Amino acid sequence: MIALTGDIEIGYDDVGVGTPAVFLHPFPCDRTFWAPQLGALVDHSRCVAPDLRGFGETTASPPFSMDQYADDLAGFLDAVGIQKAVLCGLSMGGYIALAFWRRHRHRVRALVLADTRATPDTDETLGRRRQLIDIARSRGAAAVADMQIGPLVGKSTRERNPELVDALHHMLENAPVDGIVGALEAMMARPDSTGLLASIDVPTLVVVGAEDAIISEDDARRLQSGIAGSRLEVIAGAGHTSSFERPAAFNHVVGSFLASLNYQ
Ligand code: MLT
Repeated sequence: MIALTGDIEIGYDDVGVGTPAVFLHPFPCDRTFWAPQLGALVDHSRCVAPDLRGFGETTASPPFSMDQYADDLAGFLDAVGIQKAVLCGLSMGGYIALAFWRRHRHRVRALVLADTRATPDTDETLGRRRQLIDIARSRGAAAVADMQIGPLVGKSTRERNPELVDALHHMLENAPVDGIVGALEAMMARPDSTGLLASIDVPTLVVVGAEDAIISEDDARRLQSGIAGSRLEVIAGAGHTSSFERPAAFNHVVGSFLASLNYQ
């Protein structure tokens, strides 16, 4: 489906009824990343997955920033008639969930922060992103996919599930170059959200893949310990794309979390 909001069209999927849960995909994926969740969590919630600006069927035009992604989301929620939602963001989706909390917190029912962090880029990461921007512009999305796919999936998935790695690579190589470059620049410029964590007063679940090469379990623990009353779940045998690699385990912890909201 397509929603019109502000200056862009947003492609999205919307299934089920009940408390809305909005799924924010990582870089450089699209909303199909969440297919294993939408199929399974539909019994718990109205599950909505938009393509972020520049990805999938959503317009790839500037400006790109975490604040802009958050404002796109607020406009999108208006367009699809959602006042308040559980936000489930993985990696870059988590950066956006934190930006949304900063700008539109009255619209957040609860948070799932998966394989993500509150801290900004290190100098080393900034350098890697500059290199990736050059590669995207000169050699296209397939070359970016070749570079990104390694760190995105865990060792167990690489060894036992090569078809899944291929499916993810296929998603990555279809990302528009403007969306890739825009997202990289937005991530590079994102502020430190550490100071924001103490203000989070909605139920929050932090999730991390035990084999995540981008966000360590210690990073996830630091994020979780900054949010009062939050819980950490570690997904065994999964890397950075924990929901995609181990959907049954991920859906179990997120499904239980969504179900628990009905009693709070
Ligand atoms: C993502 O999965 O969204 C990216 O790996 C995030 C990042 O590079 O910081």
